[in-house]
Amino acid sequence: MSIQIPRGTQDILPGTVELWQYIETQAREICRRYNYKEIRTPIFEHTELFLRSVGDTTDIVQKEMYTFTDRGERSLTLRPEGTAAVVRSYVEHKMYGDAAQPTKLFYIGPMFRYERPQSGRYRQFVQFGIEALGSNDPAIDAEVIALAMEFYKSLGLKHVKLVLNSLGDQESRKAHREALVNHFAPRIHEFCSDCQARLEKNPLRILDCKKDRGHELMSTAPSITEYLNEGSQQYYEKVQQLLTMMNIPFEKDPNLVRGLDYYQHTVFEIMSEAEGFGAITTLSGGGRYNGLVQEVGGPETPGIGFALSIERLLMALEAESITLPVSQSIDCYVVALGEQAKDYAAKLVFELRKAGVTAEKDYLDRKVKAQFKAADRVQAKYVAVLGENELERSVINIKDMSTGEQEEAALDTFVSYVAEKVL
Ligand code: HAM
Repeated sequence: MSIQIPRGTQDILPGTVELWQYIETQAREICRRYNYKEIRTPIFEHTELFLRSVGDTTDIVQKEMYTFTDRGERSLTLRPEGTAAVVRSYVEHKMYGDAAQPTKLFYIGPMFRYERPQSGRYRQFVQFGIEALGSNDPAIDAEVIALAMEFYKSLGLKHVKLVLNSLGDQESRKAHREALVNHFAPRIHEFCSDCQARLEKNPLRILDCKKDRGHELMSTAPSITEYLNEGSQQYYEKVQQLLTMMNIPFEKDPNLVRGLDYYQHTVFEIMSEAEGFGAITTLSGGGRYNGLVQEVGGPETPGIGFALSIERLLMALEAESITLPVSQSIDCYVVALGEQAKDYAAKLVFELRKAGVTAEKDYLDRKVKAQFKAADRVQAKYVAVLGENELERSVINIKDMSTGEQEEAALDTFVSYVAEKVL
């Protein structure tokens, strides 16, 4: 039997890869405008990093990590997300000492989670994410959210919804935590074993449980909003005020807790509201993680960021019937008739390419008709025809495929003639 691709992964083939390239270019472009610089970190990290940052009571750490022991008996993990690695790198390279602050970084790369594959949920997926470290200004929260929303807008998406919540600072979270324990403890035996373990370690995680989602105690659980202290409340209001000033609509959801442990204050998700999008509607998520840098061994430093997966973004584009302006076509196909002309055509495509023109020719000894078909298949904008006769006269015939018009050009001006038309 032939070997097949692992479950939850996909090959991105020519024809589709252009969409990915387009999206990645747009991501880099928006980061340029918002002044976020690219960072590339390893695909794997020490497992300890994710235990400490993502949190050992989260589904990601408990059930979804690709962890292995290397030949040196080290426990390593394929990164399930980007934030932890960026923060690790930030601390390791002492970026907090850089002159330009806050440190604003972005990344595009594959992440790995051992999840049950379904529409929009892969085991290898590509995240585009940004992280801003070193500022406690609510304006940077608004900036991160604005970048995310503008990115979707720039690609043409209309049916996206921003959902916002605050998890408050440590003090607020502590009060909320106690309230949650009191709420769930008397009936915790009705919950799954994961939730029972979470009660003492991290009761907030119970609210994120996929199994017990329908339990009546879930909908009546105390919401963090009631436990925000004054400072947290003011911070949250400021973020909302800034978003309103930027004309970025949002919905507040006091039950939005996110699936990772490092968050404080602002958390948000962006959902697709497009019809037929499927069950998983979250396109991206993020939030503030003020304790994380310290957790990873650095100085106390605030941070905020978000990440989206390109897989879900493509689904949203499809659901909204948006075609990205990517071109598969080539500029010029050189059709050759006869041995001598064939050799000359090889030189011509070489010269065209050197001049910046996308050029192609036949390599399968096709008849003229089949060469024209091949030119059609690659959607050539111009087809140049070189026969023995033309070669003798040092000319070449050029057909504009959009108008059907034909012209003859001198061979020595051919490259600049085509270049002028297409570049
Ligand atoms: P997350 O919510 O776990 O957050 O993931 C962010 C986004 O990654 C999701 O909204 C979704 O688009 C995509 N995603 C997650 N899992 C999958 C999957 N199995 N298949 C396809 N797409 C997926 C984080 O990862 C945080 N690091 C975000 C962040 C950055 N927070 C602060 N800074």
